[in-house]
Amino acid sequence: MLTPTLPVFGASSASSAQLAVLGGSPVRTARWTGWPVWDPAAEKPMMELLRSGNWYRGDGNKVNEFEQAYAELIEAKRVVATASGSAALIAALQVMGVDAGDEVIVSPYTFIASYNVIFDKHALPVFADTDQETFLINPKKIEEKITERTTALLPVHIFGLPADMNSINAIAKKHDLAVIEDACQAWLAEYDGKKCGTLADLGCFSFQNSKHIPSGEGGAVSSNKEDLMDRVKAYHDCGRPSGPSMRGMGSNPVRGSNRRLTEVQAGLLLSQMVRALADADKRLENALYLDSRLKEVPGIIPYKLADGATRSSYHLYPFRYKKEFFDGLSRKKFMAALQAEGIPCYPGYGKQYHDGLIEEAISSRGYKRLFSEQRLKRYREELHQLPDNDQLTEEAVAIFQYVLLAEKSDMDDVVNAIQKIYKNRKQLL
Ligand SMILES: Cc1ncc(COP(=O)(O)O)c(C=O)c1O
Repeated sequence: MLTPTLPVFGASSASSAQLAVLGGSPVRTARWTGWPVWDPAAEKPMMELLRSGNWYRGDGNKVNEFEQAYAELIEAKRVVATASGSAALIAALQVMGVDAGDEVIVSPYTFIASYNVIFDKHALPVFADTDQETFLINPKKIEEKITERTTALLPVHIFGLPADMNSINAIAKKHDLAVIEDACQAWLAEYDGKKCGTLADLGCFSFQNSKHIPSGEGGAVSSNKEDLMDRVKAYHDCGRPSGPSMRGMGSNPVRGSNRRLTEVQAGLLLSQMVRALADADKRLENALYLDSRLKEVPGIIPYKLADGATRSSYHLYPFRYKKEFFDGLSRKKFMAALQAEGIPCYPGYGKQYHDGLIEEAISSRGYKRLFSEQRLKRYREELHQLPDNDQLTEEAVAIFQYVLLAEKSDMDDVVNAIQKIYKNRKQLL
């Protein structure tokens, strides 16, 4: 989970050559902003909402208001708010017809929820290897993973870096597959000048507390396809009818579940959304500055935008750390040194596909009924054939998004800290 922890720092001495992790003065002593940021202007409307007792979406208008405002923000025809990003993904998989025994091709470099939701449907998450430069699913590795059971592609715009959607959509068209964007970290990110969440059949967002528009928990499905969105709306509301195609079909014409957002969460989201555009611009400006400066440091390779991507949302600012340029200094020690210099960072995602959850799922009674022994044997083997992703999980370092909300001059602290570690790396060997 991307939970920021704010380090407390000692005295400042940016020029000291003694690394802070060994007792020297850190490059940065000032605190970074915390997250989320409360807007005092939200207090009056939030108190009114709480006092009204209308906390359920059926009794108020805040969820509707938020859906409309978010649709406008990401330039989508429709948005349905959900209880979480996971709930959004589950609704999207349901509406795109992903069924028990199907296969869904997904990015391996992601938060666990991207494939937990596929297991939720009793389908198989099949990983296509990552492009290390972009941190994203490598479109060249997708087709070899398609089988007669494949029904959908689930690219993840990880860290807000848009996946190569032209290539992905072309593959889907050729093989008649659905495409669902996991845009849970990609609010206001753009591909070919269009917002993530509007680039495929359905897009899914998260508004969990670490996210750029936070409400503790929350999510949304977005699309330009009205008929699909009617079905998402119906699914997320216990299968109640939605839209002209379900008129006169009874009170629960389709299978559904309660995946609704509350009015209270929508109230929070409306207040948090006020700052979203300005924050996104700030992160972009600072990220572009870091891109230009970090290239100066040997062994530090900032992310590369995928072909066609025009703007990232920087849920984190990622780069690859090549220890061979640091005389073999491990990533763990590099990160400890960076944290000690006052720069909060995170090692990105690991190889969760070896952690046991997948084995638990596919050795269950249900999966053994749904998939042949031969298929599951090949599947197990292929979990060990993700060389690019495996390497990325060992080299990635990511700077927390709230760092990018500081001033441009604060970005120099990030660069100076990394440079200081590089210059003094021998102290840590
Ligand atoms: C890439 C990605 N997918 C899906 C999710 C699931 O969202 P939620 O935690 O709101 O269920 C998250 C949340 O962290 C995420 O980062």
